[in-house]
Amino acid sequence: MTARLLNTSLALLCLGLFEVLKAAKISCRNEEGEAVDWFTFYKLPRQVKRQDKDSGETGLEYLYLDSTTRSWRRSEQLMNATGSVLGRTLHQLYKAHTSKSNNTAYLMYNDGVPKSMNYGSKYGHTKGVLLWNRVQGFWLIHSIPLFPPIPGEGYDYPPTGRRNGQSGICITFKYNQYEAIDSQLLVCNPNVYSCAIPATFHQTFIHMSQLCSKSSSSEIPGRYLCSLDGSTAEDTLAS
Ligand SMILES: *[C@@H]1O[C@H](CO)[C@@H](O)[C@H](O)[C@H]1NC(C)=O
Ligand SMILES: *[C@@H]1O[C@H](CO)[C@@H](O)[C@H](O)[C@H]1NC(C)=O
Repeated sequence: MTARLLNTSLALLCLGLFEVLKAAKISCRNEEGEAVDWFTFYKLPRQVKRQDKDSGETGLEYLYLDSTTRSWRRSEQLMNATGSVLGRTLHQLYKAHTSKSNNTAYLMYNDGVPKSMNYGSKYGHTKGVLLWNRVQGFWLIHSIPLFPPIPGEGYDYPPTGRRNGQSGICITFKYNQYEAIDSQLLVCNPNVYSCAIPATFHQTFIHMSQLCSKSSSSEIPGRYLCSLDGSTAEDTLAS
């Protein structure tokens, strides 16, 4: 092998490795698809009879702020587009599902389950999505009823989520922070409507595994405080 060929091969190998590492980094994503530490959004309510034609007509515009932008800005994309922040972020989940990845876990919960007319009062009034692997993941907490669609269906935004304002926050967490999230989520008593937690995670994430299999035998504490900074968390349990 010539030195040049070797160099090229090495460069390709490094590039390949880089791609693998980049791909493994599950994270909140901005509209450019870039990983961000966190973002928050405010979907504007639909406004009827506006003079200003290009704003507020569809009920799908949103304002957006992330860990790299200095101020709120108007989205380039509509909320129902796969290029929106939610579309970009959730794409990682839909992709992991189609590749049948068994090192990735996810949970979707919502007291208003997609395509259902019933609002369960048995569960917490809480909505969100968690996706993670052994490196890291994201936790999206939002207010949108009947959202997001289950993985088999792919990304979409429900018509019922247009009229009112909606908001949410996405936070990227390291793997070692998910144990605290496991206990924290239990207190929310979420209505999990779609999930997959591979067996290798079951021992570490007892509550989330039980929530997923709907076999929760754990008593739900009335209050649970913990620190998610990854250091030795002083967990407080009280009922
Ligand atoms: C999103 O909604 C707008 C306005 O109703 C529509 O024109 C557009 O085709 C939709 N986009 C997708 C991807 O569904
Ligand atoms: C899942 O992981 C196990 C090893 O932990 C491996 O043997 C198995 O082939 C994997 N399954 C798939 C579908 O990739």
